[in-house]
Amino acid sequence: MNVLLIGGGGREHAIAEAIKKSRYDVKLYTVMSRRNPGIARLSEDVLLLKETEVDRIRGYAVENGIDLSFIGPEAPLAAGVADSLEREGIKVFGPTIDAARIEFDKAWARTFIEEHGIKGSPRFQVFEQREAREAHEFIDELEDVVVKPAGLTGGKGVRVMGDHFTSTDDAKEYANEVLKNDRVVVEERLTGEEFTLQAFTDGRHLSFAPAVQDHKRAYDGDLGPNTGGMGSYSSRGRILPFMNDNDLDGAEKIMQETIDALKSEGITYRGLLYGQFMLTRDGPMVIEYNARFGDPEAMNILPLLETDIIDIAEHVATGTLSSLDISFREKATVCKYLVPEGYPEDPVRETEIQIRDPPRNALLFYSSVHEKDGKIYTTSSRAIALVGIGETIAEAEGIVEEAMHAIKGPLYARHDIGTEELIQKRIDHMNQIRGT
Ligand code: AMP
Ligand code: GLY
Repeated sequence: MNVLLIGGGGREHAIAEAIKKSRYDVKLYTVMSRRNPGIARLSEDVLLLKETEVDRIRGYAVENGIDLSFIGPEAPLAAGVADSLEREGIKVFGPTIDAARIEFDKAWARTFIEEHGIKGSPRFQVFEQREAREAHEFIDELEDVVVKPAGLTGGKGVRVMGDHFTSTDDAKEYANEVLKNDRVVVEERLTGEEFTLQAFTDGRHLSFAPAVQDHKRAYDGDLGPNTGGMGSYSSRGRILPFMNDNDLDGAEKIMQETIDALKSEGITYRGLLYGQFMLTRDGPMVIEYNARFGDPEAMNILPLLETDIIDIAEHVATGTLSSLDISFREKATVCKYLVPEGYPEDPVRETEIQIRDPPRNALLFYSSVHEKDGKIYTTSSRAIALVGIGETIAEAEGIVEEAMHAIKGPLYARHDIGTEELIQKRIDHMNQIRGT
């Protein structure tokens, strides 16, 4: 079977590993913008190409007799790569543009959820370019606000009261800035603990993966600028230590209702739906949806997947997911990213990274690095992810920390992710929010 993978980050390396574990005889073809050495090693052939070059990707897929394709990042989904491959009769794991809109148009997504009466939406309004005055009035009304561009920003365009601004005047100024290029979403700031819930879906049925918690801030103690995600953990079982079963049920219900609402409008969502939730005093609320696996969150759940990912993708593409049992190993995971010094604001680029002894126990996923003459170099983004799998989060965390010694280069990581101290802080925070 010929399988095409689009994307070259840590998430896609984890997808490639899952594909190579398949019981089918798979030949993997990859389109990526830089040569990710981990993915290249698993691939029959690699095409170095911008991942949004729809026509050239279609041509490459047809040329190589591709049967099934996986689209990793959001940009090719927003560009219509899934639509284009489907028109050629190629099965695709990843939604078409009309469904992927749930990620790349945050204004539409919020409005859609509200119009369909789905729970979990904060108070919000969307403003167009000529509505700066109305935006300012709504900021005054809410006071405790979050201001975000409607379009894709790689997770870095969102600004939050208390974190990025201290006054409504600052919020208004930022809203003006956003309005120069985009519509702006102004919404109520939610307080609680964030978690990620990922589900395979064929547009009807959802199969949920264990919940994961990502860490957006660059430095230990949740300090510093927002990043694409510095690391993440999952617990044995399906919930996180600060959650209960009701919280999970609530989030699953919101995601099921969202898929049902899309279906009712004639949109069949096929692929992975990523729900980012804030667990508040009133239960889970939607921060946003993504139309693909999370990065890093894919690296927590894919190594635990016991079901063949090719079977999952086939059932997703043919709308028969409810007839497939999907299971995960009952283990805890911790994933930590090693990122270039100065990341995200002023990262050191094009510097060599050395991996001394391949880390024992831990899994290593290459992300935004590239390989030249057998050497590995940083780019401006997250470089290498290490994943530990254990009976407990603490055990998994220890495995990652030990493996880190093997990697040399101008890199840093967050050492607090997955530690008992930080997890206890999350539990205490949630207890305080719930008043228990
Ligand atoms: P996003 O790009 O939508 O994932 O937002 C990035 C980060 O901004 C999220 O991980 C949250 O920490 C924060 N954020 C976004 N929307 C809200 C909200 N309504 N309330 C509180 N924090 C938010
Ligand atoms: N970890 C956040 C994301 O993938 O969007």
